Amino acid sequence: MKNTIVLYKSKYGTAEQYARWIAEELGCEVRSIDDMKARMLEPYENIIFGGGVHAGGIEGIDTFIKWVKPILKDAYYHSFDEKVNFRQDFYKPSKKIACFAVGINVQNFDARAELRKVNFDKKWLRPVTCYYLDGKFEPERVQGADKMVLKFTTKLLRDKGLNMNADERRLLERIENGCDLVDRSQIMPIVNEFKDVE
Ligand SMILES: Cc1cc2nc3c(=O)[nH]c(=O)nc-3n(C[C@H](O)[C@H](O)[C@H](O)COP(=O)(O)O)c2cc1C
Repeated sequence: MKNTIVLYKSKYGTAEQYARWIAEELGCEVRSIDDMKARMLEPYENIIFGGGVHAGGIEGIDTFIKWVKPILKDAYYHSFDEKVNFRQDFYKPSKKIACFAVGINVQNFDARAELRKVNFDKKWLRPVTCYYLDGKFEPERVQGADKMVLKFTTKLLRDKGLNMNADERRLLERIENGCDLVDRSQIMPIVNEFKDVE
């Protein structure tokens, strides 16, 4: 697929792995966002962006959104009917765009809602689809400021003691012992959305 590209921003390699699998399925190009510039996206009709989730933020999403802002904002404001209701069927951005977020807590409903709120915080980002893919966490690889973030999260969870719910208990267990939830089959909804668009 010449008109499609998968972009990623990945600190520990998981989002990159998913991006490469998606590109392999679609037979399209795959690039780190760090090797790209906004103008390099011009030839592509379909753009998929994915990043690892760190402390509630999707890595690289700010840069990606900055690049595609004119397309998404324009399409959003052209999607209102005469009664000023947003009409999904009027929403036709000049490029097809979707995102994916990779994390170890992305199947939790509240965490997902928060991710959506924090990372897609503008009205014109509301129609953008974000897929959630299970990640991987290896405590022994964590370095620098990430150590502090995890120490803080662990303390927050531990302080809940008996008030910790099942999801929080599972998250604490994943942070303390590490986990590998990566599953290639999770890319299929993304692949299916993009495979017939050209
Ligand atoms: C400092 C740190 C913070 C993290 N915060 C979150 C988080 O808020 N939500 C989540 O679901 N996963 C979180 N994770 C887990 C990562 O999202 C997971 O390891 C993912 O696979 C990383 O993607 P990457 O390998 O592409 O960097 C965190 C990991 C680290 C090291």
